Amino acid sequence: MGKTFKWGILGTGKIANKFALGLATLPRAELFAVGSRSQEKAESFARTHGAKHAFGSYEQVAAHPEVDVVYVATPHPFHLPGASLCLKQGKAVLCEKPLTVNLQQAEQLVGLAREQQLFLMEAMWTRFIPAIVELRKWIQAGRLGKIVKLQADFSFKAPFDPQKRTYNPELAGGALLDIGIYPIAFAYMIFGREPVHVSSFAQLAPTGVDQQAAYLFGYEGGEIASLQAAFTADFQKSAFVIGTSGMVELPLFWRAQQLIVHLPEQKPQVFDFPYPSTGLQFQAEEVMNCLDAGMLESDVMPLDESLRIMAMMDRLRKEWGLRYPFEQ
Ligand SMILES: NC(=O)c1ccc[n+]([C@@H]2O[C@H](COP(=O)([O-])OP(=O)(O)OC[C@H]3O[C@@H](n4cnc5c(N)ncnc54)[C@H](OP(=O)(O)O)[C@@H]3O)[C@@H](O)[C@H]2O)c1
Repeated sequence: MGKTFKWGILGTGKIANKFALGLATLPRAELFAVGSRSQEKAESFARTHGAKHAFGSYEQVAAHPEVDVVYVATPHPFHLPGASLCLKQGKAVLCEKPLTVNLQQAEQLVGLAREQQLFLMEAMWTRFIPAIVELRKWIQAGRLGKIVKLQADFSFKAPFDPQKRTYNPELAGGALLDIGIYPIAFAYMIFGREPVHVSSFAQLAPTGVDQQAAYLFGYEGGEIASLQAAFTADFQKSAFVIGTSGMVELPLFWRAQQLIVHLPEQKPQVFDFPYPSTGLQFQAEEVMNCLDAGMLESDVMPLDESLRIMAMMDRLRKEWGLRYPFEQ
């Protein structure tokens, strides 16, 4: 076991709570400090999760000399300021997805981390869960033949509320940055390169952000990724990785605990990969392993790939004429 790391968290919302639960499963991770815009919320969060310090500002977490690494769990537009604050105080950062709201901001953040020679990773936690680690091994070993198609859909019904971060353009709302990023990042992981063809269609909500969309990527070898994300209706939320020798189905692919292998003329085989707690701990383990090894970024979720994914999301938004108010 490597050294123990003292973690700070910015924000006390939904995902911060899930992350804290996951972190509690890691013996060498200590939840040291939580920062909130409200002292009261910080204290309540610290009581629930056993954090040593509760601060009524994000600045105090970033400035604490004992904090090694900070998890940024604020809404999208606050990723850049929150993560920058921590990097400027010499902290390693695990920043929620999307890394920022657009490529310009992402380049700024990555530039800062590189300039400061500090660790930064986008919290694309799917890549670190056991089922996905195994899937990548199967693909590398050629178990499915050549991967020719990918289908992935992340859709659920989010009731329309112009104030909430899902639909609020001021909070960079829309399905793309919130959940579309999962099928897109999955395609980048599976095919490992840029598509040469991109087409898409989006239906915009009354607030102007995308409420549902489909994105079609075509690759130089003819491979196809057919991806969707929506707030309009619940759907099966599965991915299908399709190779010339077989197909893997991933129910709830972004948090998969099962791989279902379909081979020609055989009954489907189900492989279970259960994990304890919320599953958000695996990315935290990756961060600590990288820090132990003196690495400034993860080679499973490298910063250049986060930048490429962000560039793709900018490109899709451009096709839909979707600019956030703070981008005007
Ligand atoms: N990896 C995943 O599975 C996953 C899942 C959900 C969300 N996320 C990402 O995590 C981020 C947060 O999502 P969430 O669902 O946890 O959101 P949330 O429940 O709304 O929580 C966000 C927290 O950020 C803080 N905050 C700072 N400025 C804010 C503002 N102007 N408005 C609202 N909250 C503000 C608040 O904490 P304080 O009041 O304590 O400061 C709030 O509790 C998003 O970027 C999202 O994409 C990731």
